[in-house]
Amino acid sequence: MTSRKPTEELEREHRVIQQVVGGMAILIEKLESGKQVEAAVLTDLSEFMQTFGDRCHHAKEEDYLFKLLEKKGVPVSGCPLAVLLHEHEKGRSLMADLKLTSETYIRTPNAGREALIGTLRKLIELYPAHIWKEDYLLFPMANKLLNDSEQRELLARFDQHDSEIGIDVHHGFEQLAGRLLEMICGDASACHAA
Ligand SMILES: [Fe+2]
Ligand SMILES: [Fe+2]
Repeated sequence: MTSRKPTEELEREHRVIQQVVGGMAILIEKLESGKQVEAAVLTDLSEFMQTFGDRCHHAKEEDYLFKLLEKKGVPVSGCPLAVLLHEHEKGRSLMADLKLTSETYIRTPNAGREALIGTLRKLIELYPAHIWKEDYLLFPMANKLLNDSEQRELLARFDQHDSEIGIDVHHGFEQLAGRLLEMICGDASACHAA
């Protein structure tokens, strides 16, 4: 058995995404209490979700893991892949909304506040439940279905995907998640406690 499982890589990325989603909840509180949110926080947040959340993470799941599971007989139109794919689409749509509502808020904070809060709320409703389904349903199922050589092959595909995007880019976004929390909370521990 390979020492490093591809699903462990995805779970590690989930923890990074969850940190940032935790920061979104703090942002909502700030916006609702009338505090100003810096433009840099919102542009970094949007960039993190689109690049790390979608291009790095969703792409690994859809292009490699889901396709391999389909080959192993898991129907793409059935449970659980259809639901997860639908949630990825919903996530992409919300990421586009986050970019737009952030831009409006940055231009006109008073007019843009409610729409930005609405988008952030939808993101924090979607992601924890999506990640839970993958961590507790999809990944255990994948680890039962995939043999050692398939696991190694999948891990190699993930590594290749990261190097195509740029290992530095991938690590840079992991670090950005921590910086974002510091920018949102003052210090990251406040977000971890939230
Ligand atoms: Fe996913
Ligand atoms: Fe995921």
